[in-house]
Amino acid sequence: MTQVTKRNANKFLKDEFDDLVQNHLEWNIRILEGGSKPHSIVNGKEVIMMCSNNYLNLSNHPRLIKGAIEAAKKYGAGSGSVRAIAGTMQIHRDVEKRLARFKRTESALVYQTGFAANAGLIPQLAGEGDVVISDELNHGSIIDGVRLTKKADRAIFKHRDMADLDRVLKDADKKYRRILIITDGVFSMDGDIAPMDKIVKLANEYGAMTYVDDAHGEGVIGPDGRGIGAHFHIEGKIDVEMGTFSKAFGVVGGLIAGSPTSCFWCSTCGY
Ligand SMILES: Cc1ncc(COP(=O)(O)O)c(C=O)c1O
Repeated sequence: MTQVTKRNANKFLKDEFDDLVQNHLEWNIRILEGGSKPHSIVNGKEVIMMCSNNYLNLSNHPRLIKGAIEAAKKYGAGSGSVRAIAGTMQIHRDVEKRLARFKRTESALVYQTGFAANAGLIPQLAGEGDVVISDELNHGSIIDGVRLTKKADRAIFKHRDMADLDRVLKDADKKYRRILIITDGVFSMDGDIAPMDKIVKLANEYGAMTYVDDAHGEGVIGPDGRGIGAHFHIEGKIDVEMGTFSKAFGVVGGLIAGSPTSCFWCSTCGY
């Protein structure tokens, strides 16, 4: 019986893969030999790197490399546990304080990845009787986070179209307990920027919450690279600013900055 199941699984996977190949959709992963640098070696060839998100080349910055080595010597290569049990270290709290200062918010929280931040926090912000309103071109990790809300309703507004957002908000206004508007800050595919000042203004008119995914804004736009809030001079006015360390910061991890309401931030952090 086990053998039959295994054989079927193998066949299914092979059929799926053959299908991808036939439709030219198989993904041949390219191998970086060495660091991700402006001039990198990929699959044995020197290339100019135009497709990474290491915008400031910080992944090769001597201070970051030195800091990583010193932290590993002091704290080890891993935390030994998830943060909620025994894995929250002093450096997590230190970086969260510094991030909050950087984003000019009350508080910040670090996650394993940006994806984990969107998937972990969005479902905590909207439930039964609520609606999540998304820009139609939002990043896939936001879409996954919204799917995890399970009982919240969902609505879409046309890309960066404030008249359409107003229409959706008007429609939602009387129907829902809470309204959450979510958008990318700098859109990951086209690089265009959400009109965050106008989104916040509309949100205030309807008593809605705002959530921006600033993955491609942090380190890039706004004074000192503080991101979309600084770019539009609305720091502290966006309810939730989510980000990632895997773009301009040049490393790995996710972050949330804003005002915490006890354990509202996520389901796992423990504070
Ligand atoms: C807009 C946006 N949000 C979230 C993420 C996820 O970030 P991470 O790579 O840290 O999981 C990405 C990365 O691809 C992104 O482009």
